[in-house]
Amino acid sequence: MKPVKIGLLGLGTVGGGTVRVLTRNRDEITRRAGRGIEIIAAAARNLDSLGDLDTTGMRLTEDAFEVVEDPEVEVIVELIGGLSPARELVLRAIDQGKHVVTANKALIAHHGNEIFQRAQEKGVMVAFEAAVAGGIPIIKAIREGLAGNRIEWLAGIINGTANFILTEMRDKGRDFNDVLAEAQRLGYAEADPTFDVEGVDAAHKLTILASIAFGVPLQFDRVYMEGITGISREDVAYASELGYRIKHLGIARRSPRGIELRVHPTLIPERRLIANVDGVLNAVLVWGDAVGPTLYYGAGAGAEPTASAVVADLVDVVRALTIDPENRVPHLAFQPDALADTRI
Ligand code: HSE
Repeated sequence: MKPVKIGLLGLGTVGGGTVRVLTRNRDEITRRAGRGIEIIAAAARNLDSLGDLDTTGMRLTEDAFEVVEDPEVEVIVELIGGLSPARELVLRAIDQGKHVVTANKALIAHHGNEIFQRAQEKGVMVAFEAAVAGGIPIIKAIREGLAGNRIEWLAGIINGTANFILTEMRDKGRDFNDVLAEAQRLGYAEADPTFDVEGVDAAHKLTILASIAFGVPLQFDRVYMEGITGISREDVAYASELGYRIKHLGIARRSPRGIELRVHPTLIPERRLIANVDGVLNAVLVWGDAVGPTLYYGAGAGAEPTASAVVADLVDVVRALTIDPENRVPHLAFQPDALADTRI
C-alpha cells in the first residue's frame, strides 16, 4: 500500500521533533499504522533557520497555504501554533477534505467547536492529542480508556514551564526570570511565555480536557485563571518548611451549578504523589466512578515528547484511513450536536 502523504506546517521545536521521530522510528511506526507515513511538503516561517534538520523528499516553502492547497497532501499536521493563520489553515484543509493533526491548544480551546463542526460536515478527522500535557496520552486515556466512566473530577499539572520554574525556585533558589529564560531556550515555553506563567496555556488545556471528560462544549472564557507570577522564592521556601509544595494546577469538577474550571497555584502536602512531580513533567489525576482514581505522568513539553503525541495521532488517522476508509469516525473529538445544551 502506498504511504500516506503528509503536509507539515511548522518546522520549529515540535515540527523538527516530529520529523526526527518519524525518521528514526520509521519501521515501528509503519508497522503500527499499517502504511508508511511520508512528509511530502513542509512550511517553515524561515527556511534559512532549519539547521541540520533532514528534510529530504519534502517540498519546502515559507507559505503554509501552499502546503494546504497541495492536491497530493492527504493529512495536514499543524504545528505553527497561535490562532491566526492557524485557524484559517486548518479550516481550509478541512474544506479540501484533508485530515488534520494539531498540537495547537489555543486553537482548539478557542475555535475547536467550529473546527469539529466543520470536520464533521466534511467527514474528516481532527486529532489533537499533543495539545494537552505533551507526551502523556491523556486525551486518549480519557476518551477511550475511561469511556465507560462518569468522570467526577480531574486535576493536574498541565504546564511544564510553570512547573519547571516552581521546581527550580524551590530546589536551587533560582530567580523566576532566569528559569523562564532557560525554559525558553529548552523549547518548553510558548512563543509568548506570559501564556505559561499567567495560566493561559493551562486554561487552554483544561478547557480541552473538560470537554473530553464531561462531554461539554469548549468554553475557554469560563475558566478562572491565575498564574505563578505572584509566587516568590520565599513563598516556595515557606511552603517547604511547612511540609507543602506549591504546584500550579488545572482543576475541573462537577458541581451542582455545572462544571467548575480553574487554574491557579495550590499548596499540596508533600506526601502526595502529585506534589513530587517536578521539572517539566506533567501529571493528571482523573477520577472516574467505575475505575476510581487514575494518574497519568510524563514529559509535558519539549520537542520529542510532544512529537510522540503528534505521531501517535498520525498513526491513529492513518489506521482509520487504511482499515475502514468508508466508515471512519468523522473526527476524533466529541459530537458537538449532542452537547449543545450542556451547561458549564
Ligand atoms: N508551553 C507549554 C508547557 C508547552 O510549558 O507546558 C507544552 O504544551
